Amino acid sequence: MSGRGTETMSKIDLAIRGGTVVTASDTFRADVGIADGRICLIADEVKGAAREIDARGLLVMPGGIDSHVHIAQPSGPGIVMADDFASATAAAAAGGNTLVMPFALQQRGQSLRGAVEAYRTKAEGECHVDASFHLIVSDPTPAVLGQELPALVKDGYTSFKVFMTYDDLVLDDRQLLEVFDLARRERALVMVHCEGYDAIRFMTERLERSGRTEPYGHALSRPEIVEREAAHRAISHAELVDLPMMIVHVSGREAMEQIRWAQRRGLKVLAETCPQYITLTADDLKGLDMEGAKYVCSPPPRDAESQKAIWEGIVQGVFQTFSSDHCPFRYEAADGKLNPKARSSFRWVPNGIPGVETRLPVLFSEGVSKGRISLQRFVELSATNHAKIYGLYPRKGSIGIGFDADIALWDPNRKETIRQEILHHGADYTPWEGFEVTGWPVMTLVRGEVVMEEGRIVGAKGHGGILQREVGSYAN
Ligand code: URP
Ligand code: ZN
Ligand code: ZN
Repeated sequence: MSGRGTETMSKIDLAIRGGTVVTASDTFRADVGIADGRICLIADEVKGAAREIDARGLLVMPGGIDSHVHIAQPSGPGIVMADDFASATAAAAAGGNTLVMPFALQQRGQSLRGAVEAYRTKAEGECHVDASFHLIVSDPTPAVLGQELPALVKDGYTSFKVFMTYDDLVLDDRQLLEVFDLARRERALVMVHCEGYDAIRFMTERLERSGRTEPYGHALSRPEIVEREAAHRAISHAELVDLPMMIVHVSGREAMEQIRWAQRRGLKVLAETCPQYITLTADDLKGLDMEGAKYVCSPPPRDAESQKAIWEGIVQGVFQTFSSDHCPFRYEAADGKLNPKARSSFRWVPNGIPGVETRLPVLFSEGVSKGRISLQRFVELSATNHAKIYGLYPRKGSIGIGFDADIALWDPNRKETIRQEILHHGADYTPWEGFEVTGWPVMTLVRGEVVMEEGRIVGAKGHGGILQREVGSYAN
């Protein structure tokens, strides 16, 4: 029910009063009533609720959905991810998110179903916000393609990621085509990591031979051409089997232009970008001694011109989602960035950076506060499109009657400096140390329960559930 004037209903558990509601289409002054964890009323005034939250001066926005995070994922011998499900989802809540989408990684030789069950066991009872798993397919055997994947899609695992690089994950062209073809039949959405394996190996070995083993070598080993070539190849394979596809973590102009070209030709190519590609550059990998390892992720951050290109893609609608690609490792740790082999070559520095907690403040500040994007575009990029693309809409991703009451209250004028000491993630550093932002999430509610207030995680872990999904509206 929504309306003008004062509304009272027989049972409203909670009213958020006096705020400015923002959705992907509108900004308007309204109170929001919540019953049984869902939004039941939006009106000028909602009275008679059992509890009220004063949101005067605040924006009332859909909780962020981060559709690309890695949590407790095996990352090679002796390497341990810095977050488990409790710490990652606490960090997510602190950053204004109400749902994260981690990956259940199939290791070669492992059954996909086994991988999913193992991740569910790790996550159950641990989460502060809701979670829903994508799959990572690294071993597309006939049994995986013929039985496991179709059954898992029917069970609500409607998206999976494939890799065009990494020794233990890479699929060759034939395997990519087999997976794409299966996804087309089952109407699942494939997320593709576009970097060319052989080109990276060639560059890595050449750099190592010439002594360029420091963290900056990582950026030199995977230039934009490597990403562009893989993006074009993935687009071509997808076109061959008529598959809608999502290209994840796009880093710069070269890949962005491939995607824009495909979209202009009418192909269903969706794209995601991340905070590192609008705020960091490859120069960050040049830090003193091994400090550059803190910024090693793939694709690597590029340069100022690439950042401009990514904004161009955001503004023009080339990108539908803005995710963190949260993939945290401790820096000062033998099982993290500074593992025993890391000094011998950049190739042993684990790839990935923490970002689930800082994604939204960075986008809000650099995007909305600096006038590059509207509040509506912010909500689309941070929540609504994630829900639509990955099959959670109209349950998640907006503020409307019947939606889960997944809400973040933002102070659009609050200035903060991002510092490790205020964050909740398991990593021992943030790549955004000292980064100044305007706009900050001050409260997060998951299905009507306050899970974060003024940076404090409130309520017990386990409130976050694990969700199955429909086939997304874009995967058709
Ligand atoms: O460096 C990154 N991004 N690590 C995470 C794995 C991936 O490719 O998304
Ligand atoms: Zn990737
Ligand atoms: Zn990733």
